[in-house]
Amino acid sequence: MRVIITKDYDEMSKEAARIIAKQIKEKPDSVIGFATGGTPLGTYKELIRMHKEGGLDFSKITTFNLDEYYGLGPDHPQSYHYYMFENLFNHVNVDPKKIHIPDGLAKDVEAFCKKYEEEIKKAGGIDLQILGIGRDGHIAFNEPGSSLASRTRLVALAEETIKDNARFFEKEEDVPRYALSMGVGTILEAKKILLLASGESKADAVAALIEGPVTSQVTASALQLHPDVTVIIDEAAASKLKRKSYYKFVDKMYRMLEEKKSL
Ligand code: GLP
Repeated sequence: MRVIITKDYDEMSKEAARIIAKQIKEKPDSVIGFATGGTPLGTYKELIRMHKEGGLDFSKITTFNLDEYYGLGPDHPQSYHYYMFENLFNHVNVDPKKIHIPDGLAKDVEAFCKKYEEEIKKAGGIDLQILGIGRDGHIAFNEPGSSLASRTRLVALAEETIKDNARFFEKEEDVPRYALSMGVGTILEAKKILLLASGESKADAVAALIEGPVTSQVTASALQLHPDVTVIIDEAAASKLKRKSYYKFVDKMYRMLEEKKSL
């Protein structure tokens, strides 16, 4: 696991956008897994800037989103569908036919989830999956207790997540209690994973993800089993890591090697 510690949210966002842009430039028809939440907003802003000012081309990528609230349609302002169009897709040249977001209004949920998994496979698998992390250590909506082998399915949200996400809704009662979410097993099949976290409220989850045991109680900890994970966190989110200076040292070495390679 590569750990990159940035001074603040802004630097975290720029670093993440740089990695995503590199992926798209190296493989223009990349399959990118997108995440929602407050954390990736700065990254998406930077990607939009790169598209507008530097011509970063999204036209050949295929996208798969991690999750969607169950019961919310694409026009609902709090749906993840709406979020993705509002904060990224409407501002870049992504092909709408290549966008996949779980359908919060799916009638046959089981059939829909099965099809979603098949579509990921048909696209050749996810090349780069972007992730945030919940305060309880969840990735996508894989709440504590989710099987580390889980696949896309209907999940019940934890109390803590409902409270955290209430800030996007008028009142807490409006937050859906269920969601469709890729499973931990689905996420682990992505070729590369990029997890972002910012702020002190994420420090415990980040410490558990990087330095804790692999456990279904912190589904992000399953990323320790993946061979190509980059975690970009700001100083506040890194504040509870025991080996912070070691990660910084390793990151410096990586950068020196990368610089040498590009000479
Ligand atoms: C939700 C999403 C997750 C996201 C998490 C953290 O629960 N399903 O994918 O990582 O929120 O969100 P935020 O970035 O707003 O803290």
